[in-house]
Amino acid sequence: NQAIADEKKNMSPETDSDNTLLIMDHLEKIFSAAIAEAYPLYSKTPVIIAAVNNVSAKFGDYQCNNAMGLAKKMKEAGISISPRDIATEIKRCCPASPLIDKIEVAGAGFVNVFLSKQHAVSALTTMLRDGISPPNVPKKRILVDFSSPNIAKQMHVGHLRSTIIGESICRLLEFLQHDVLRINHLGDWGTQFGMLIAHLEDRFPNFINESPPIGDLQAFYKESKKRFDDDEHFKKRAYQHVVTLQAGDPKSIKAWQLICDVSRQEFQKIYNRLDVTIEERGESFYQSRMLSVVEFLRSKNLLEHDDGREIMWPNVNKTGIPLTIVKSDGGFTYDTSDMAAIRHRIEEECVNWIIYVVDSGQSTHFNSIFEAAQRCGIANPNEHRIDHVQFGVVLGEDGKKFKTRSGDTVKLSDLLDEGMKCSLKQLQDRGRDQILTPQELSDAQESVAYGCIKYADLCHNRISDYVFSFEKMLDDRGNTAVYLLYTYSRICSIARSSGEDFSNPAKILDAFNIVLDHEKEWKLAKTLLKFFDIIIKCSSGLYLHFLCEFCYEVCTAFTEFYDSCYCIEKDKTGKIVKVNHSRILLCEATAAVLRQCFKILGLKPVAKI
Ligand code: ARG
Repeated sequence: NQAIADEKKNMSPETDSDNTLLIMDHLEKIFSAAIAEAYPLYSKTPVIIAAVNNVSAKFGDYQCNNAMGLAKKMKEAGISISPRDIATEIKRCCPASPLIDKIEVAGAGFVNVFLSKQHAVSALTTMLRDGISPPNVPKKRILVDFSSPNIAKQMHVGHLRSTIIGESICRLLEFLQHDVLRINHLGDWGTQFGMLIAHLEDRFPNFINESPPIGDLQAFYKESKKRFDDDEHFKKRAYQHVVTLQAGDPKSIKAWQLICDVSRQEFQKIYNRLDVTIEERGESFYQSRMLSVVEFLRSKNLLEHDDGREIMWPNVNKTGIPLTIVKSDGGFTYDTSDMAAIRHRIEEECVNWIIYVVDSGQSTHFNSIFEAAQRCGIANPNEHRIDHVQFGVVLGEDGKKFKTRSGDTVKLSDLLDEGMKCSLKQLQDRGRDQILTPQELSDAQESVAYGCIKYADLCHNRISDYVFSFEKMLDDRGNTAVYLLYTYSRICSIARSSGEDFSNPAKILDAFNIVLDHEKEWKLAKTLLKFFDIIIKCSSGLYLHFLCEFCYEVCTAFTEFYDSCYCIEKDKTGKIVKVNHSRILLCEATAAVLRQCFKILGLKPVAKI
């Protein structure tokens, strides 16, 4: 090693100790420097680094795959060098790094990197001593618009997806120390309120003094919708009420509040069960700002008259679909409220990143809003990052849109109840009700039920549709929450059964070192150290399935380790004869990494299950 280190120069000064947590990022810097040194003409070449999946293999842990591409480029320029020679030259120019044990050239021109055990030991030791600190990234002020169901309407599985994905994105970004605003863009201001208020007036004329029994808001909605469709006179009154409401008439406002409160309580129950934190800022919040955004757009001559409406083209070429900013009756639309909202977010909230977690069906709408916001000067692509975090639909086991047996949309509270039932049954089938205390059993039941629903959603690439199946979610093999939660509790039980106190790993580390001699210990350690890279990968594209895949990889690496490495040795009578402190520390590091991942994914681990 020393020989290799000697022929290299020292590390570039901007690579501080913090960056060594981000292995990918660190290697990119190393190889970018090496390429620039070896081939100055090609110094701008984007570095290609891949993690080698088969960790035990002879091809190292990471690979730089630039030599082939460089050879091709040079050939085009009339220089003929073999990829292997280029790889060798890149290797020679690599600055020394504490992360790297050795570098080898292999095959057609791969540069294989072997990580340093010493570095891994010190990184794991720090993790155990100080806890898992997030990688250092520039801090942003971010608004996440998620969940966002509509008052008086059913909160459906699409909203469930938005709620689960949105919550995890917030947790991920908060872990990275960003300043995150969690916003529920409730649909609380649509034209549906006209008919709801008119119907309330007829059914419960005394609603001002006596709170009306409209707990079943869905039924109430259906009744009023039917009258709206059948009765011309009622329809007219409904429209008048939209006007009185938006004008702030106290009686209409009171009726609107009563209706909103009923929905709000229902939504809150779901949020409490799923441990979701969100601040309500519905469309109504933007009423005055809708008036001013219309003025703003008019003053910039961006509104065009079209058949009584006022529309805005998102771009000068007038491609795509124009936004309807003012309807022919003078009212505002979903487009208007989103233009007012984006302006408020950028100009008043001063955020530099907005994330909309909404189903893929609305991508045209959001593209138009983002383009229009740029066109009128609200958003500036150099200063503001704006993402539509899209997701696919939830399918039933028949592969069709998720519905109840009778064909109705699935009520979210029923779905969560069903999850609770299934998870209890599974725990009973395993005889856990005989072993756990009632409190432990109920904690495990909740952890499994809500954990499996969230995880089933998060573990797929969000863009694709996914099939909702309790049976699959509760499978204890494969990439499921159940498998992860069981593995986690198994890890916790190891230190517990050692007869020693591992609750303060720092103390143990004063007396014992982490040793990574066994192939499986080493593999587990390297897997754990990928955590920081994975966090960056998840946050850059806002994809959480990478984190789920990582958890699964950690659990499989742990299982392999545990199958071949004794942590505690017992004699025939069951008496403990040897405790391997290093290995139990490795178990504790695994548990710590998993706990951090679970926190982001919204899983509540339990020590006993
Ligand atoms: N309430 C809308 C719906 O249920 C989602 C709102 C999403 N957020 C937004 N800013 N448009 O479809």
